[in-house]
Amino acid sequence: MTKKIAVLPGDGIGQEITEGTVDILHTFSSLFDRSMTFEYGLIGGHAIDETGDPLPEATVTLCQSSDAVLLGAVGGPKWDRNPSHLRPEKGLLGIRKALGLFANLRPVKAIPALLSSSTLKEEVVRDVDLLIVRELTGGLYFGEPSERRQVAGEDAVVDTLFYTRSEIERILRKGFELAQIRKKRVVSVDKANVLESSKLWREIAEEIAGDYPDVTLEHMLVDNAAMQLIRTPAQFDVVVTENLFGDILSDEASMLTGSLGMLPSASLSETGPGLFEPVHGSAPDIAGRNEANPMAMILSAAMMVRVSFGWEKEATLLEEAVFQTLKAGVCTKDIAAATNRAPVGTSDVIAEIKRQLQELAET
Ligand code: NAD
Ligand code: IPM
Ligand code: MN
Repeated sequence: MTKKIAVLPGDGIGQEITEGTVDILHTFSSLFDRSMTFEYGLIGGHAIDETGDPLPEATVTLCQSSDAVLLGAVGGPKWDRNPSHLRPEKGLLGIRKALGLFANLRPVKAIPALLSSSTLKEEVVRDVDLLIVRELTGGLYFGEPSERRQVAGEDAVVDTLFYTRSEIERILRKGFELAQIRKKRVVSVDKANVLESSKLWREIAEEIAGDYPDVTLEHMLVDNAAMQLIRTPAQFDVVVTENLFGDILSDEASMLTGSLGMLPSASLSETGPGLFEPVHGSAPDIAGRNEANPMAMILSAAMMVRVSFGWEKEATLLEEAVFQTLKAGVCTKDIAAATNRAPVGTSDVIAEIKRQLQELAET
């Protein structure tokens, strides 16, 4: 059956990496006889420029009527001074909320060809295979009030960290369920020594742990977790945490693989289409220069065809094409240190991944 994909390139390098990823998906489609259609939508800064809205209604409708959403990245200096409701990031938060994408899965796995590309020692990162399960539709990102005020004649601000029991419970359950099909260890990251939200989080984790007797549960304070991720990252299996903690820890964890440009993600709801996007942003510093690493987005596309379409074997081959490309020493500047080659452009990496995929499909 044909799968309909909503493609939202967004801004900055989002444009370049999306073009390359869709190009590869066309090759994928014909090599494996898997039918996909691609329909484009506006989001972020480009949507603001064209429609005055970071998330036009037409984009929401397109995503809701698709089997999956593939997103590049949003944001850039052009819109940084806009009022809050007219920022590109509001478009991203809006589509996550509109699709109910409460579970953000960010896998971080050592890649043999890239071990020397991490800023950490090889022996520290060699056995890394962890999954950050980040709550994505609650917490500080969505709590009300969130505003500036005047208090006693001076500027003041408030952001709100709000969660309901059911929001916390469903993301923790997701973490336990994923641990059951992995290494059966959950580390729940919180700040229960200070925050009320974390105290409830920890209570619920304790309450439901009994439903997953094969999984061990450990609690870790977020500051310690940030340190442990660098000290002994291989200790982690599933890390489940609230929205902002998960955002920060996943950028940190990306360096275990050598580059932020390598980290994919899947954002899932209870039912309905999932959204797949790289963990990184629109990288304005390198946008439009054919320098962006497209691998995080291609690996996100691999997660899409596996998780949303169930094309397990083909997803693995797509991932393998990325790893073979790295093995052949073909990579962008961000990871070139790991190879003995000069870095190549985004389009060269795309071409090599396509070639590798063709070779893998023939064998
Ligand atoms: P960023 O992730 O865009 O970039 C951080 C650093 O990593 C930069 O030096 C960049 O060049 C590098 N980098 C990121 N992706 C790369 C890739 N694929 N290949 C090579 N290098 C890469 O974060 P930032 O600079 O803090 O934010 C820039 C903009 O992106 C902001 O507007 C921010 O809000 C937005 N952003 C969007 C998303 C998203 O759309 N999901 C995520 C993060 C940040
Ligand atoms: C991410 C990004 C977003 C987030 C921003 C752009 C709103 O950093 O996807 O990790 O904080 O969730
Ligand atoms: Mn982030």
